[in-house]
Amino acid sequence: MTVSTLVSLAPKHDGGLMLKNPVMTASGTFGYGTEYAKLVALERLGAIVCKGTTLRPREGNPQPRIAETASGMLNTIGLQNIGVTALVREKAPIWAKWDVPVIVNIAGETVDEYGKIAETLEGVPGVAGLEVNISCPNVAAGRIPFGVDCDAAAAVVTAVRDSSSLPIIVKLTPNVTHIVEIAEAVVAAGADAVSLINTLLGMAIDVRAKRPYLSTLTGGLSGPAIKPIALRMVYEVAKAIDAPVIGIGGICTAEDAIEFLMAGATAVQVGTASFVNPNAAIEIIGGIDSFLREQGMKDIGEIIGVAQMGRRT
Ligand SMILES: Cc1cc2nc3c(=O)[nH]c(=O)nc-3n(C[C@H](O)[C@H](O)[C@H](O)COP(=O)(O)O)c2cc1C
Repeated sequence: MTVSTLVSLAPKHDGGLMLKNPVMTASGTFGYGTEYAKLVALERLGAIVCKGTTLRPREGNPQPRIAETASGMLNTIGLQNIGVTALVREKAPIWAKWDVPVIVNIAGETVDEYGKIAETLEGVPGVAGLEVNISCPNVAAGRIPFGVDCDAAAAVVTAVRDSSSLPIIVKLTPNVTHIVEIAEAVVAAGADAVSLINTLLGMAIDVRAKRPYLSTLTGGLSGPAIKPIALRMVYEVAKAIDAPVIGIGGICTAEDAIEFLMAGATAVQVGTASFVNPNAAIEIIGGIDSFLREQGMKDIGEIIGVAQMGRRT
């Protein structure tokens, strides 16, 4: 029996963004894909999302910038990356030869910077779409992240939309009171899809040094510890908006991924799990396929959103 796992991440976009399966790798946990090429059959992935890319190269934050936690990790990498110009010159030509879409995750400190990065990526072979990270500090607003304010988040999306013809996924921060409002604002501003969640703000203390462990005091929590929170947010956002939702947060197994799909996600991203097992995403793809067969289903669409209470007809 053939099972279709094809999903569309940008159904309202002219060019669309079709994935052969709903499993992607999450930004910052899979480098530029090239680092994993010898370990992972990349062409089997639904898509790869590359490391957060800024207008200029960044060295990132000082050490220590990683701390292990119960069922997760804290990080404060600080967007270390090669910058968009080097990405276009060195990485995109490699991606253009791959049989897997690569989505570039972009990050700016001003609305204008987001627009300029998008402009630089316009028409570049090998770039299939943009994922806009709005968790970044907004310099003009006293470094309060764009993603915690509907107007600031929408302004970023408008700038990117005006500079790019690519499908646009907006990546939401969970460090907000009402994530649904932010999701609605970015979709109204032209996002083709939303992805959530980015990391949750957390902290660790070095008890011998009697000070916070991470160089920047706080960091982003990821891994299995955040899964129930992520799942709840995905459920709420998927119920509220008329655009595809990509579920992220602590996904380690096929069953985790299926939970997100049933909550209403059209696709999922695997992050921290790739650090433990580089083939985690590939194993999840196989596990979803087995589940669909076991359930006698022919299409991935049969599980998307089925756990949404009050939505089923
Ligand atoms: C070391 C590390 C670096 C990350 N870098 C980025 C980044 O550059 N841009 C971004 O949008 N998200 C970044 N993230 C967030 C992940 O893409 C993902 O949203 C988050 O880790 C939750 O998923 P997980 O629990 O599966 O890791 C990073 C996460 C980790 C652990």
